[in-house]
Amino acid sequence: MCGIIGYTGVKGAQEIMLDALEILEYRGYDSAGIAVCGEDSCVRIRKCAGRVKDLRLLCEKDGILGTCGIGHTRWATHGGVSDANAHPHRFGKVTVTHNGIVENYRDLVQRYRLEERLQSQTDSEVAAAVLDHFYSGDPLAAIRKTVLKLKGTFALSIMFEDIPGTIFAVRNVSPIVIARAQGGSMLASDVTVLGQYSKEYFVLPEFYVAVLKAGGVELYDMAGETAEPEWLTVNWDVDRSGKGGYPFYMEKEIMEQPQVIRETVLPRIQGGIPDLSGDGIPDSLLADCTRICVVACGTAMHAGLVGKALMQSLVRIHMDVELASEFMYTDVIVDEETLVIAISQSGETIDTLEAVKHAKKNGAKTLAIVNVRGASVARASDYVIYTNAGPEIAVASTKAYTTQLAVLYLLTGRMAYVRGSFGEEEAKAFAGELMRVPEVMQKVLDRREEIHYIARSILNAQDVFMMGRGLDHAILLEGSLKLKEISYIHSEAYASGELKHGTIALITEDTPVVAVVTQDKVKSKEFSNIKEVQSRGAGVILFIKETFGLEKDAVWDSVFMLPAMEDGFMVMPASAALQLLAYYVSLDKGLDVDKPRNLAKVVTVE
Ligand code: F6R
Repeated sequence: MCGIIGYTGVKGAQEIMLDALEILEYRGYDSAGIAVCGEDSCVRIRKCAGRVKDLRLLCEKDGILGTCGIGHTRWATHGGVSDANAHPHRFGKVTVTHNGIVENYRDLVQRYRLEERLQSQTDSEVAAAVLDHFYSGDPLAAIRKTVLKLKGTFALSIMFEDIPGTIFAVRNVSPIVIARAQGGSMLASDVTVLGQYSKEYFVLPEFYVAVLKAGGVELYDMAGETAEPEWLTVNWDVDRSGKGGYPFYMEKEIMEQPQVIRETVLPRIQGGIPDLSGDGIPDSLLADCTRICVVACGTAMHAGLVGKALMQSLVRIHMDVELASEFMYTDVIVDEETLVIAISQSGETIDTLEAVKHAKKNGAKTLAIVNVRGASVARASDYVIYTNAGPEIAVASTKAYTTQLAVLYLLTGRMAYVRGSFGEEEAKAFAGELMRVPEVMQKVLDRREEIHYIARSILNAQDVFMMGRGLDHAILLEGSLKLKEISYIHSEAYASGELKHGTIALITEDTPVVAVVTQDKVKSKEFSNIKEVQSRGAGVILFIKETFGLEKDAVWDSVFMLPAMEDGFMVMPASAALQLLAYYVSLDKGLDVDKPRNLAKVVTVE
C-alpha cells in the first residue's frame, strides 16, 4: 500500500513524478504529494487529500521547478485522510515519503520529545523526525542509526536539505525498485511503474542504502561498504501497461486473458506434457511431498481453492488452502514433507511473505506462483513459477487470477504424471485441454454484450447470492468477491447444499441468485438447490455449460451458455463470464471500476 516514486536527473521532476504517481495510484489513492528540490536548492512540498489529479491541479497553479524530487500516493493507515497527513513529510532538514508501518512510533515520539513538534498524525513523520535527530552532515550514518530504532516495515525515500540533487532510499520488507531512466535515476514502489521507463532495474535489498544521483546509483550496506546491485530485466512489454483503447484497465485485462494464458502455458508444455523444468522445478519436489499447503490472500487464495479441488481429485494428495493472514496464528501443521505454495500477483503481500518465512522456518519446501519478477515472495521462496500475466493495474484481479489457475493446472498435470496418477496419454490429454483454454475463453469474451445485458438485472440489487457445488462453488467465491469489490453490492457465494442450513432465510424475491452449473457429477443436486431458492421467490441468473441443456419447464431470469470444455477446465470460461458480470455492473453504476473505494492493489500492511 502507498506508492512511492523518486527521480533525480536532467528533466523536470514534477511532471515525471505526477505521471508516475497516476500509474502508482493502484497502491493507494486517498492523498498524494511531491517534494521537489528547486533550482535554489530549497525543498518545496505540494500535497493534498484526494487523487493525483487533484495534486496535478495544485501543481498547475503553483508548480515547483527542479530536477530532483520524491512523491507519494497514500493509502491511510496511521492518521486519517487529510492534507497534513499526506506525504511527503518534512522535519528539520529531512523530507521523506514512506510506505509501511512504524510500529513503535509512539515510543519514538516520547523518546525524542516530538509531541509538540509534529504536524501530522502519521508514523511516517516520526521517521523523518528521528532521521533529522541523527543527521549532522553524514546521511548514511543518520539512516543507519534511524533504521536501528524503527520497528515495523518501511520503504523510505529521503532528501536532505543540504544535499541537493540526491535521493536516499532504505527499506525493510516494503519494496523499492530502482532504475536508471529519463536521463537520471528513479526509484519506485514497484516495477509496474518503472517498467514504463526502463527495462533494467534492481530490487533494493533490505537494510541497504541506495544513493540516487543524476549520474548514477550507489549502493551501500549498513556497514557503509559499497555493494553491487543485482540487475533484473522487466518481463513484460511496456505497451501492455496502457489502457489500449478500453475505458478501464479492468476491461483490457479481462480481454487480454486468452493471450496471457497462452504465454503462461505454451512454453511449459514439452512433448505434449506439462513440464516445469524451464522454471527449475525438479520433479522430486512434486514427487516427494506428502502434503501441499497453499498460502495466499483474496483472489489468489481463491485460485488456491481451485488448485485444491484439482489436485485432490487428480493427484490424490492431501492439500489445504490457508489464508496467509491466519497462517501463523492458527498452528497449521507444516513440516519437511510439506510443499507450501505461495500464490501472489504482486509478490509483495506482507501476509503471504510472512507465511512463506514461517513455513521455511518449519522446514517446508516453498514454491511461489508470482506475477512480478524479483518480488519479495519470489525471492523468499525456494522455487518460483512466474505467471507471465504482464502488468495488472486494475485493483480487481482478473488476468493474474486466471494465469495463477493456468500454473496450478500445469502443476497438477505434472504432479499427476510424475506421481503416476497420469500415464503419458492422460498427461497429454490433460495438457491438450489446457491448451484449448485461450480459444474457449475467447468465445466468452466475444459474447460480452450478452453478459452486459444480464448485468443490468442486478444493478439495483442490495444483496446477491451465488450458489454452486464443488468447483462451481470455488469459481463463485471469486465471482462474488469481484462483484463486491467493484460494484459495492453485498454478495455471498454459498455451496448450494449449505444454503438451507441458515442462509436461505435471507432469500426473498429481491435477492437475485447467480448459479453456476458446469460439473456433471453435481448438476442434478445443483438444480434441486436452485429450485429451493426459486420457490422462495428469487430470480436466478444461470451460467451453465452449454452441453448440459435446460429443463423444459424451468424458468430463468437470464441464462448464459458457457462454451464447453472438460468439466475440470470449466473454471476458465466461467471465471471470465463472472468477471465480466462484475465489470459491467460497476461500469453501469458509473463507478471508478479500476480504483474501488478503500482498496489498494498491493497490500503491504498486516
Ligand atoms: C481482489 C484482489 C485481492 C488480491 C489480494 C492478494 O481482486 O486483487 O484480493 O488477490 O490482495 O494480492 P496478491 O495476489 O498481490 O498477493
